[in-house]
Amino acid sequence: MTKFLRFFKILPLFLLFISCEKEEEAEGVIVIPPTKIQAKFEMSISSTDQNVLLLDNKTTGTGDFTSEWDFGQGGSLVLDQPGIEEVRFDNDGTYSVRLIVTNAAGLTVDEKTVIVDNTAGGICPNGVCGSTNSAILKDAATTFLVGNITRASRINAGGQHTDLLKSTFSTITSEYEMKMDQMYPSEGNYNFSAADAIVNFGVNNGINVHGHALIWHNATPDWVENYSGTDAEFEAMVKDYITTTVTRYKGKVASWDVVNEALEDGSGHPLRNSVFRQKMGDDYIKKCFQWARDADPDCLLFYNDYNMASSPTKRAAMFNIVDSLGDLIDGVGAQMHISYNGPSASNIQAVADGTVSRGKILHFSELDIRANPNNDQTVLTGDRANAQKAKFKEVVKIYNSIPLDNKYALTVWGVRDNESWLLNFWGHIDWPLMYDDNYNKKPAYDGFLEGLE
Ligand code: G3I
Repeated sequence: MTKFLRFFKILPLFLLFISCEKEEEAEGVIVIPPTKIQAKFEMSISSTDQNVLLLDNKTTGTGDFTSEWDFGQGGSLVLDQPGIEEVRFDNDGTYSVRLIVTNAAGLTVDEKTVIVDNTAGGICPNGVCGSTNSAILKDAATTFLVGNITRASRINAGGQHTDLLKSTFSTITSEYEMKMDQMYPSEGNYNFSAADAIVNFGVNNGINVHGHALIWHNATPDWVENYSGTDAEFEAMVKDYITTTVTRYKGKVASWDVVNEALEDGSGHPLRNSVFRQKMGDDYIKKCFQWARDADPDCLLFYNDYNMASSPTKRAAMFNIVDSLGDLIDGVGAQMHISYNGPSASNIQAVADGTVSRGKILHFSELDIRANPNNDQTVLTGDRANAQKAKFKEVVKIYNSIPLDNKYALTVWGVRDNESWLLNFWGHIDWPLMYDDNYNKKPAYDGFLEGLE
């Protein structure tokens, strides 16, 4: 049999083998149906034109798929082109921008909302339209002072910081330079240069100055912490420091936080075991208030502390201090370092009620409102900005509702978000204040004003 014929004799067997193989392959192979590819895009605002949106298709997947844009401005879908799409949004409004990705398995959509407010500059970053309210806080708050903090370096630099303090605020607090560690760096050696710059700025511009803080365990110079003299000598030194400082600013500094944060956070909130308590006894607070009162009988004297709203037990301990001081104390400083989602209005109201019921004045002394307490945001979204706005409104409304005789000031602890102490303290991004990094008013500014209505 020729080779040729032999081939045809075995060909059926070969075909059968292949088909079996195929059948085995057919039986063994799992055919995976195509799956949808998730549409994904990122957007940003042109750095040169706030009415131009930059769209970047970030969709990834295997196999063929098509991407089409719906810019939310009507009209047909637009096929995605390689690179960044630049889209103009000239008219005020809220737009739904969608990317539709289609493959054999069907389509998926990624959708983002774009808000345009041309009075706020055009497209609102992350849906947060700045405030366009031209009302001035200090003018709108007719029955109490509206404050912010400052530093000698910022006063010396001038510019938008001092412009804004002069235009918008009616009281200032030194963020850190009127504390003992700055004013009294070594025994017998006072350094009032920074404090003078701040006080003179206030006096020269008709802005109230609140002194913060004469005694604070966190701003005590090392030489005091490690004081080598006797307890009696220590007490005499503290009396001299308070008398010298309050006398220096008599008639210029309207109020002082005489003692700041004397209470522990632990159960029962005992007095912190500061060097002042150790060397002067539990009644060191009363002694400090007496010395301040003696130095300037016209100066309003405050006790200042934090978590007054969030901790009812610490609040009660604070009011015990107030009660123990009698007429030596004029007011309560509740710092109000809070968040967009707490503490509750009722707890904030309790601070006001307890102060008013004692006939004392109230200073919300260090208000900032975290929009990112759980570090779950990388940008300030419209939702968070509006929640923060509502909390500013709530706090201001509570303060503005207390009786005139109990009002003093509401001080915000910082001008621009990026200057807030909170960023370093918590180690993550947040936007706790009323102005963004470029001194643009945020919705929080409107919240403050709405709280005054
Ligand atoms: O400006 C100097 C800089 O020149 C120097 O190089 C650097 C290192 O020594 O220090 C810088 O000063 C620091 C200042 O903040 C400005 O950043 C001080 O050391 C630092 O102690 C100071 O921290 C302040 C802190 O109180 C302690 O005084 C914060 O700004 C201030 O926001 C914070 O505020 C306190 C209130 O007084 C009381 N309630 C809590 C609140 C937050 O901690």
